[in-house]
Amino acid sequence: MSATVAPALDVRGVVKGFGAVRAVDGVSLAVRSGEVLGVVGPNGAGKSTLVNIISGLVKADAGEIAYRGVPIHRLSPDEVARLGVARTFQIVKPLRDLSVIENVMVGALFGRRQCRSTREARRIAEEALAQVQLGHRAEAECRKISTGETKKLDLARALAMDPDVLLLDEPLAGVGARESQTLIELIVGLAKSGKAILLVEHVVRVVWTISDRVAVLHHGAKIAEGPPKEVAADDQVMAAYLGERYIREVLQRPADDAEPGVSSDGDGGP
Ligand SMILES: Nc1ncnc2c1ncn2[C@@H]1O[C@H](COP(=O)(O)OP(=O)(O)O)[C@@H](O)[C@H]1O
Ligand SMILES: [Mg+2]
Repeated sequence: MSATVAPALDVRGVVKGFGAVRAVDGVSLAVRSGEVLGVVGPNGAGKSTLVNIISGLVKADAGEIAYRGVPIHRLSPDEVARLGVARTFQIVKPLRDLSVIENVMVGALFGRRQCRSTREARRIAEEALAQVQLGHRAEAECRKISTGETKKLDLARALAMDPDVLLLDEPLAGVGARESQTLIELIVGLAKSGKAILLVEHVVRVVWTISDRVAVLHHGAKIAEGPPKEVAADDQVMAAYLGERYIREVLQRPADDAEPGVSSDGDGGP
């Protein structure tokens, strides 16, 4: 065996059923530091369930998950977060009675940093809000902010945890085009700075543009994985699972023409 370093995140043979539905059906994948792994697939493919399992929110029926070689599949969500695996939610549920910055401070207090003072947590939260360009809404009440702002808040909360692995569940859903561009650049920068990023996103063109590798899920199973170009060249996979529209709108454009707005399923969100 070669002396390779363990991937930041290693998912092996994960299975999860809900009644008769096999939401996740033997999925294995790995994400290395500095890499964006895009995870795509139609609605109901099991993407969110996989993120829920990795983050400890849902327990798998079978399979193993390791963070830098250390098993985490029996840990609670807060233990997983404290190790350095942070996530965002497809449907964000902020603490509505708190302000934007107070929600982000929660990340600083309970993440890998385990920040002790609220003053320090506030400073970290301010930095995270600036990263997602939401600093101007720091004192706003969460019940009064838009869906797009809620998504940015959730990403800031995850960043305030000082993650090493970042699981992003449709971070661009409900975010406007210009703001999406900001977040895309942020995600690319985070990977460049050494974070391992698992990106679930329905804006297929974005996934294809910024991912180092792409994994395609369908009915809970991984049906393809590889560099975007190779996976995209698998016409049958693309046509069957991402739709003919994808073929027309994405593959026939140059890669540097990327902009958000093309959805694999057309519903623009959850
Ligand atoms: N808590 C749950 N209880 C029952 N079924 C669930 C639950 N969560 C997800 N599912 C089912 O598991 C499948 C995968 O869902 P999900 O992981 O949300 O897919 P995706 O994120 O790819 O759209 C779907 O059939 C969904 O209805
Ligand atoms: Mg989902």
